[in-house]
Amino acid sequence: MKMKIMVIIAHPDLKQSRANQALAQALNGQTDTLVRDLYQEYPNWTIDVQKEQQLLLEYDRIVFQFPFYWYSCPPLLKKWFDDVLTYGWAFGPGGEHLKGKEFVVAITTGGPENGYRSGGDNWFTISELIRPIQATLVRCNGTFLPIFVTYNASFGTDAYLSQEARRYAEHIQTSLITLAR
Ligand SMILES: Cc1cc2nc3c(=O)[nH]c(=O)nc-3n(C[C@H](O)[C@H](O)[C@H](O)COP(=O)(O)O)c2cc1C
Repeated sequence: MKMKIMVIIAHPDLKQSRANQALAQALNGQTDTLVRDLYQEYPNWTIDVQKEQQLLLEYDRIVFQFPFYWYSCPPLLKKWFDDVLTYGWAFGPGGEHLKGKEFVVAITTGGPENGYRSGGDNWFTISELIRPIQATLVRCNGTFLPIFVTYNASFGTDAYLSQEARRYAEHIQTSLITLAR
């Protein structure tokens, strides 16, 4: 049976976006893949927790795709974590519903890759900066797969972005074993 993938895109204005839209377009028409625009679904930021939890149960791999904003995710995705990953459902007593689920974080950054290292403009790697999200998902019994990053997203050419989009589509469909190699 084919794995079911849900991609949750958290971009405040996906229609005006270049990078995140390019990545999303690469997923068009893929069977068993649900692609969602979180900001469009929840313009007033009232997240339907029951619906979100039901969707999490239905999908095997969940991808969080977003532009890097101040070394973190845009705020509606943070609210999604706060609202949806509830005590007694996602963690704590009886909170085992996400056991066996796989999670992928996919980020676009304005800055170039060489800034994300010790001594670089941003001092730390993306893997280091993303640890709060990793800890959250692992705490909720999820399997945290290798992240996907498109650096230099603001200044990249269309050709670069479409190449990254192809790499993205492949990344999120690849098995854990292949990714970890
Ligand atoms: C509020 C805000 C904060 C940002 N913070 C960062 C940052 O911390 N690091 C970085 O590399 N880029 C940062 N950027 C640049 C965005 O990551 C970049 O514009 C985005 O990834 C491009 O994707 P898009 O074309 O889909 O909008 C920031 C942009 C905004 C608007």
